[in-house]
Amino acid sequence: MRETVNVALPGRAYDVVIGPGLLHEAGAMIAPLLGRPHVTVISDETVAGLHLDSLRAGLAAQGITMEALQLPPGEGTKNWDNLIRCTEWLLTRKVERRDVVIAFGGGVIGDLVGFAAAILRRGVRFVQIPTSLLSQVDSSVGGKTGINTGHGKNLVGAFHQPALVLADTALLDTLTPRDFLAGYGEVVKYGLLGDADFFSWLEAQGPALARGDGAGRVTAVRRSVQMKADIVIRDETEQGDRALLNLGHTFCHALEAATGYGNRLMHGEGVAIGCAMAFELSARLGLCPQEDPSRVRAHLKAMGMKTDLADIDGELPGADALLDLMGQDKKVKDGKLHFVLARGIGDAFVTSDVPRDKVFALLQDALAAR
Ligand code: GLY
Repeated sequence: MRETVNVALPGRAYDVVIGPGLLHEAGAMIAPLLGRPHVTVISDETVAGLHLDSLRAGLAAQGITMEALQLPPGEGTKNWDNLIRCTEWLLTRKVERRDVVIAFGGGVIGDLVGFAAAILRRGVRFVQIPTSLLSQVDSSVGGKTGINTGHGKNLVGAFHQPALVLADTALLDTLTPRDFLAGYGEVVKYGLLGDADFFSWLEAQGPALARGDGAGRVTAVRRSVQMKADIVIRDETEQGDRALLNLGHTFCHALEAATGYGNRLMHGEGVAIGCAMAFELSARLGLCPQEDPSRVRAHLKAMGMKTDLADIDGELPGADALLDLMGQDKKVKDGKLHFVLARGIGDAFVTSDVPRDKVFALLQDALAAR
């Protein structure tokens, strides 16, 4: 089973190929991009331990050699030090403009290596081989690259589109259930923001997807990537519609900051909780039917996912502090909080017209329920 979504950006269109076993064919798929039969691969130690030999063999089948750099796994890797490490390593490997750099890993590796490729020699091409569900459905597509700084997440970066994305869905079999479900939070987001039928399909098929239904996983990744591609083609640099992809993210980023960007709350878990809160806020503002937030939460709970602030272990700061953390998000413009809210399931929109006291009350109620 093989699906291809074309991200038809003028002058830099590329394919996202989705299906099981793509690593074995990586050489054949990447060869047309190469000026010489050699690639540099940057990965993390976990992914490399599991899959680097398969990638090496897939490239070697077409006579392509590779050199690999392995970085420590985890969000902490996405920093200035590792950006320097990657770019210096690529320069010592004599990577040129005609070469291709491969980002082989989850969202951290994709963002970091994509940014290194964006600034190396003022831009070299790169291929994304995303290994987590989150990176297959979201971060590997659309060209957002970057690192975190002491000021916050993803505050330094560039738009740099990949030349090809290979989403090998067989790699999802090696994810822990928690990692899979965290990525699934982003899949649910697509249904909620723009496709009610997809959300209904996920309500029916989600448990099978979590159990390992391979064909269903290809369908879910393809639909998610198609939705993302359609939005990115309309608004590559997030002047408008692309912000819809941030459904749940204003809450999520505040919760991630409050929990230290670590094991207490993974990004996709925060997105799921944030989506539930965005629907609750929409209902309280009279924008969407009152039953929609319950339906969103029911699906997340049925999947065994974190749904409420009560599902986050340990202390959380008060509603004021969480609101302040939201205020530091990139989605603040002219000091106003920009939210993605919904008129219903599958019908999200961006607004800056959200009274602060309503958000405060929502956070207070959610904290009180812990
Ligand atoms: N992850 C949101 C975006 O790519 O715009």
